[in-house]
Amino acid sequence: LKILFVSPEVEPFVKVGGLADMVGSLPKDLAKLGHDVRVVCPAYASMKLDGNIVARDEPLGVDVGAGAHWGRTWTTHLPGSQVPLYALEHDQFFGRPEVYAGPWGDHPDNDLRFIFLCRGALTLCQQLDWIPDVIHCHDWTTGFIPLLLNTTLRDTPIGRAATVFTIHNLEHQGYCDRRALDFAHVPVAEFRADSTESHGKVNMMKAGLYHSTKITTVSPTYAEEIKTAAGGFGLDHVLRFRAADLLGIVNGIDESTWNPATDKALPFNYTSANFGGKSTCKAALQKQLGLEIDPHIALFGVVSRFATQKGLDLLAEALPYVLDRMHVQFAVLGSGDGALETTFRELAEKFSGRLGLHVGFNGKLARLIQAGSDFFVMPSRAEPCGLTQLYAMRYGTPPIVRATGGLVDTVEQFVEDTGEGTGFKFQDATAPALYNTIGWANATYYDRPDEYRQLRRNGMARDFSWRTSAASYVNAYEWAIAARRPD
Ligand code: ADP
Ligand code: GLC
Repeated sequence: LKILFVSPEVEPFVKVGGLADMVGSLPKDLAKLGHDVRVVCPAYASMKLDGNIVARDEPLGVDVGAGAHWGRTWTTHLPGSQVPLYALEHDQFFGRPEVYAGPWGDHPDNDLRFIFLCRGALTLCQQLDWIPDVIHCHDWTTGFIPLLLNTTLRDTPIGRAATVFTIHNLEHQGYCDRRALDFAHVPVAEFRADSTESHGKVNMMKAGLYHSTKITTVSPTYAEEIKTAAGGFGLDHVLRFRAADLLGIVNGIDESTWNPATDKALPFNYTSANFGGKSTCKAALQKQLGLEIDPHIALFGVVSRFATQKGLDLLAEALPYVLDRMHVQFAVLGSGDGALETTFRELAEKFSGRLGLHVGFNGKLARLIQAGSDFFVMPSRAEPCGLTQLYAMRYGTPPIVRATGGLVDTVEQFVEDTGEGTGFKFQDATAPALYNTIGWANATYYDRPDEYRQLRRNGMARDFSWRTSAASYVNAYEWAIAARRPD
């Protein structure tokens, strides 16, 4: 199959969250299965473009706004593969470092920026004379691709391409003004509730949900949650309407880079047969975050965006009690919500030596926390899939998670008597529930070392690779192609 990925983020070039991990790894596994996969993303000013990148000679004239907008295309490959990556340069839209939001909040021209990405990706295909069988779109920024293919571009060669639209996070929908339709050259008749309109605005996510051939999301449980009023962020009726075309597929991880036996970011590597290296990582982590160096104390790690979605407010509420009453340490890495950053800074000061904090984005430290901790804490209120709990299990660090979305599907509850399971799950999004579960994990660590070791090994033995899920995506692509072009 000819498969085009269009995405606002791609690891290792530009990353805000797990969407980048997914788009940076699934295409490589699809290519291994023999498919012709290519990826398009914006060329942000902050992008880590390596030495292999080259500019295409031909400029890219993209038909948006009044007259064409001219851009330039850079090409390289996803590392360790032959999958081409095309980065679209456009000074006005992408010549700034941030993906979605600057210091003063969301960029006010996000609609225009990402419509340029959508239309630009389609124009590039025509320029390359490479018409994909299926276009895999990711979240609201790519919602206008299915819309354009169903309207303005319907009768052009690329209009035959099927679309699979993946919801990574329904919370962010890309609300914008009606000008978005004019800018994209989409007929104003599409400004209606069963196409692009919600609450008097254009909703780019909704456009994707109504117009894509098939919809996927990143776990089966999340696929159910988003069809309910409680989990649908106002779009549950659309997802119920399209329920027959909606599928949940759990994310895999890039096992070539997320492997404790080979990870170059770690001071020492290890396997489930020998945890010696993990203890060295623990000591290095304690040192780096100013924790007391103690191999015996239970160390709990956190790597997260600071957002209510991630339940970090619950953790902040529980932490004073946890640190007062339990013999534990915490290593916390994250950034985002300013009020939460302040709360965590205050906690780190109060519990200095027991709560180590780094506010910021740091890929190397994220890996050291995964490797050096004894448990990984993820009290998410909502979690479409979640990758950090998968990394944690792979690194022998049992996760403590709230039972929501992908966390339900990927973490198996620990059974005390048998040592089965891969982590600890709790139901209620409350600080006491989290407190109790941390207490349970902690007691297991100190009182049941054999079961704890077994728990670690169980997680490391699970298959979190893309093997199964890449095959599910191929099925979804074929499903979409068959629906788009009935023979
Ligand atoms: P989400 O996409 O909702 O943030 P995921 O668990 O799917 O959640 O993916 C988060 C990704 O971002 C992981 O690769 C994680 O390691 C990374 N990450 C999150 N916060 C940080 C940070 N402060 N520094 C480095 N990496 C981070
Ligand atoms: C989103 C979700 C996260 C998921 C990631 C990759 O950012 O919040 O749960 O793992 O996308 O699909």
